[in-house]
Parts: sequence; C-alpha cells; structure tokens
Amino acid sequence: MDALVAKGLYRFFHSGDTEVVALKGVDLTVAGGEMVALVGPSGSGKSTLLSCLAGLDTPDGGAVEIMGQKLPRRSELERARMRARSIGMLMQSGNLLDHLTVQQNIDLQRYLAGRHASDGGPNVLEAIGLGHRRDALPAQLSGGEASRAALAVALAIEPQILICDEPTAEVDAETEQAILSVLEGRRNDGGAVLVATHSEALSKVADRIVTIRDGRLK
Ligand SMILES: Nc1ncnc2c1ncn2[C@@H]1O[C@H](COP(=O)(O)OP(=O)(O)OP(=O)(O)O)[C@@H](O)[C@H]1O
Ligand SMILES: [Mg+2]
Repeated sequence: MDALVAKGLYRFFHSGDTEVVALKGVDLTVAGGEMVALVGPSGSGKSTLLSCLAGLDTPDGGAVEIMGQKLPRRSELERARMRARSIGMLMQSGNLLDHLTVQQNIDLQRYLAGRHASDGGPNVLEAIGLGHRRDALPAQLSGGEASRAALAVALAIEPQILICDEPTAEVDAETEQAILSVLEGRRNDGGAVLVATHSEALSKVADRIVTIRDGRLK
C-alpha cells in the first residue's frame, strides 16, 4: 500500500497585494519501506508540501491520503489524531516544547499516540549521539543538537510515515551519517520516509529523488 499519497495539491499564500502559488498541482506517492528525497531551491515549496502532507497545513486544492485514509480538510482534531498515530514530523523550525526536557518531549509524543510512555521508546537519542542531553531543556541545546532532539521526538512512535524537513541542515559530517543511519533504519523497518534536503549524502541513500521547482514536481 502507498503510505502517503498527494493528489493535485495546490497552496496559495497572500502577502499584501501579491499572491504566491507555493504548490501548483503536486502529485506524489511514497510507499512503506521507501525513502524519497525532495530536493529543490530555496522557496520552491518543499516545506509547504511537507506541512500539507503531515496535516499541519491544509492545501487549497487536492487531497492527501495517509495509510489509505483521506486526511480530513475540516476537522483539525481528526487530523491531529491521524498525525499522532501514524506520522513523525521533523519541521524546519524544530518541534520541541520549550518547558519539557528532551526525554519528556519524547515521552509526551508516545503518550499522545497511545504508546506506553515509561519505556522511553526506541533508543534514538543514543544512536544520534544525544544520550547525554536527555535531561536538557531545548533552550540549553545547540542548533544542531536541537534539530537531532526533534528528530528523536519524530521517531518516538516508530511512525509508519516519517516526514523530515532538512534534518541534517546544521550538523557535522559524522552526525550527518548517524542521522542517515537512523532514517535508513526506519525505512528498512517498513516506514515511508520523505525528506526535504540539500544534502548530497542524504540524496544518495534515498531510493528515489523528486525535484520541486516553483511549486511543481519535475
Ligand atoms: N506562511 C506563508 N505566507 C506567505 N508566503 C509563504 C508562507 N509560507 C511559504 N510561503 C512562500 O511559499 C513559497 C514556498 O515556500 P517554502 O517554505 O515551501 O519553500 P522551501 O522550498 O521550503 O524553501 P527553503 O529551502 O528555503 O526551506 C515561498 O515563495 C515562500 O515565500
Ligand atoms: Mg523549507
């Protein structure tokens, strides 16, 4: 089954008198056990597409299907439920709650998905070299550490669909490799992985590369 399906997605933004068409009829499918790299210049629509696919943003036209189920346009609550159950999302701006430690962020994510919170979930923090920062608050982390912690939160529920917006943007080569291994692990476990990236190393390990330009897939 295709885990993630986008059909004819459109997204318009208005700033003042000008209208930006960020997505112009995007069709995309990602299967379970497949890793797709989404590449394209800054401003081409990558983050907008990922937000629509994760149900964080609502497209102005077209439809999104998650694990064979249509993502409802109207009900934010139902979208949030589907997200909590099936999707791990790493946003470009990070997705940590400021007043919780890294481990508490992970536990909360699992709790929201109905998983057992106290076992802490998969040991992603160690795998990406962040085990020693488990009890830190987000404000105490460097930019690269915060983005890795956010990745650990995205992976906390071993999501069927993992959506990452530039997960290796602020890290050194060694950490990049560690992040790639974690993403590949999820893919090898049957997850559908979609990653927006400017990283060549990441594109190389992807099963498929999709290019977006000016809101259209090439
Ligand atoms: N909330 C918003 N309001 C107005 N315009 C927006 C908004 N979000 C995105 N845009 C515009 O939509 C277009 C696509 O933006 P998007 O963030 O999806 O690009 P991107 O490919 O992720 O870029 P980058 O590589 O820099 O992260 C850009 O022209 C951007 O300015
Ligand atoms: Mg972006």
